Amino acid sequence: MPDRHLTSLTIPRPDDWHLHLRDGEMLKAVLPETSRHFARAIIMPNLVPPVVSSQQAVAYRERIMAAVPEGATFTPLMTLYLTEATDPEDVRAAHTNGIATAVKLYPAGATTNSASGVRDFEKVRPVLEVMAEIGMPLCVHGEVTDNEIDIFDREAVFIERVLKPLRKKVPDLKVVMEHVTTQDAVDYVRDSHKNLAATITTHHLIINRNHILAGGIKPHFYCLPVAKREAHRVALVQAAVSGDKRFFLGTDSAPHTEANKLQSCGCAGIFTAPNTMSCLAEVFDAAGRIKKLEDFASLNGPRFYGLPPNDDTITLTKGDPVRYPTQIETGDGPVTVFDPGFDLHWRVED
Ligand code: DOR
Ligand code: ZN
Repeated sequence: MPDRHLTSLTIPRPDDWHLHLRDGEMLKAVLPETSRHFARAIIMPNLVPPVVSSQQAVAYRERIMAAVPEGATFTPLMTLYLTEATDPEDVRAAHTNGIATAVKLYPAGATTNSASGVRDFEKVRPVLEVMAEIGMPLCVHGEVTDNEIDIFDREAVFIERVLKPLRKKVPDLKVVMEHVTTQDAVDYVRDSHKNLAATITTHHLIINRNHILAGGIKPHFYCLPVAKREAHRVALVQAAVSGDKRFFLGTDSAPHTEANKLQSCGCAGIFTAPNTMSCLAEVFDAAGRIKKLEDFASLNGPRFYGLPPNDDTITLTKGDPVRYPTQIETGDGPVTVFDPGFDLHWRVED
């Protein structure tokens, strides 16, 4: 029975299980856009230089806390950037001391600031074994980087070439396949019954590759993994609205200045923090599954991470189109907000 008649929804305050906050002026400008609606977020470590040690994670967390607006409560859940030189014992200490919640695996060269990522997965095996032992999740950017692999196939090939062998070698490791974009990834997660979950972004539920390339090139829809064909988007929506506990929200909200987006070699990343909850509500409502937004945005993530859901709640109400800025100003320059291409009727009440 579709829940289309609903015009109000109260859910535990959501969390964002994949977020880029950057640093400095950008951090100050974008953090309030997330802390307005979200209680916690998994913070990506791909700064320049990357957050590779527990010491750097502590310092970054302090800079984040200093940028939280007055009156807001926000808990950054820090991650360590995995390199071939990562010390397993530093990772163990960071987890035990509550400094880092997860470790992030970027295959070297896969995306923004990933040059120090992993080339030889055998080299990081001792770290992964410690993580499996202590129950610390590995967040994975799941794309191969070989130039001969078509960019639209890189996620599917990663599952076969890297993820399956890796999970066979370290079966007790908890893995989050981040920002999944394909039916292949959805099927892989559904077929596994232990220690595997996936995050889905807001934008991958809304755009397909035509949005980027048809009728002129649209840099503001360019992100990694790149959006795939429509059938894959539909598979992602089905997974997200299903209530299946293995799928949850990780927005991958990734701000870049207008200058860095609009150039001959523009940056990958879509900034969705300001209107993410309204976009998601629209998608879930259109699928007749608005009530499942609670599982996707508020319950399934904490469950996988072994954390309690948030105590307080947010209420969304359906009405006239919500207004939101097309850009936000930052000390580094303007950043464009994601344009879903349709009106958003669900407002998060203050
Ligand atoms: O689109 C993306 N932007 N994908 C990533 O994996 C990284 C991110 C960023 O840091 O800008
Ligand atoms: Zn990301």
